[in-house]
Amino acid sequence: MLANLPPYKLKQLKVVVLTGAGISAESGLKTFRDNNGLWEEHSIEEVATPDGFERNAELVYRFYNQRRRQLLSPDVKPNKAHLALAKIERVMGNNFTLVTQNVDNLHQKSGNKNVLHMHGSLLSARCLRSGHSSAIYSDLDHSNQCDCCQPTNSLRPDIVWFGEMPKYMPQIEECLSQADIFISIGTSGTVYPAAGFVSLANQSGAHTVELNMEPSSGYNEFAEKHYGPATEIVSKFVDTLLKGFNFD
Ligand code: APR
Repeated sequence: MLANLPPYKLKQLKVVVLTGAGISAESGLKTFRDNNGLWEEHSIEEVATPDGFERNAELVYRFYNQRRRQLLSPDVKPNKAHLALAKIERVMGNNFTLVTQNVDNLHQKSGNKNVLHMHGSLLSARCLRSGHSSAIYSDLDHSNQCDCCQPTNSLRPDIVWFGEMPKYMPQIEECLSQADIFISIGTSGTVYPAAGFVSLANQSGAHTVELNMEPSSGYNEFAEKHYGPATEIVSKFVDTLLKGFNFD
């Protein structure tokens, strides 16, 4: 438990948080694996692989257009768990790193500035030729063209699909190698490389914490675990964490 840690000075402590779909569930966004492996009625293979996009690009565009519209609707707001993580960043500044597997923007909306979207973002489109990313807030299909190539090229959702390389890996690994505390929130721990972050953090000597609705696949690798809805357990844990700091 945190209480057993030596009293840290705030400026000496480095905290890395990994979030997954569970943190956004209570904001109304469905998780991936809580619904028999279907994500809004589609298999992951259909909508989250390069092969799926090659087979049926229209379906994939439509799928992410629906997700983007839902995300931008006024009903979808950050919840107490997102707000708690924004509070850690306000207090800790650059010593806090937030890595998310989520493609929503609820961490930014709650006030986090440094967010590493390792699986990409719904609000970004990527040129099929150059790989250049650009912001997008409306529907995307084959008719959208990039502004980076001549002649211009088609854009795809800027989402890291299965079989593709997650973003920011060198930066994330560097942060994990220096972490004092690693906290994993709302992820089933089934998708690598994120599922392996707890091992890297353990190798670095970090205190590792799981906050999830239920034990994840790698739950036994965590030193401390709390189970329940993110809106309850994350804010409680963050309050304890921030209280434990020595601010001198
Ligand atoms: N509070 C806390 N945890 C929750 C809540 C909640 N309200 N609701 C669900 N959970 C937990 C579930 O118990 C589950 O363990 O969140 C986890 C969500 O797991 P997944 O649906 O597998 O999502 P995630 O781990 O983020 O998926 C990883 O897989 O499909 C790919 O690229 C996609 O980024 C995604 C990756």
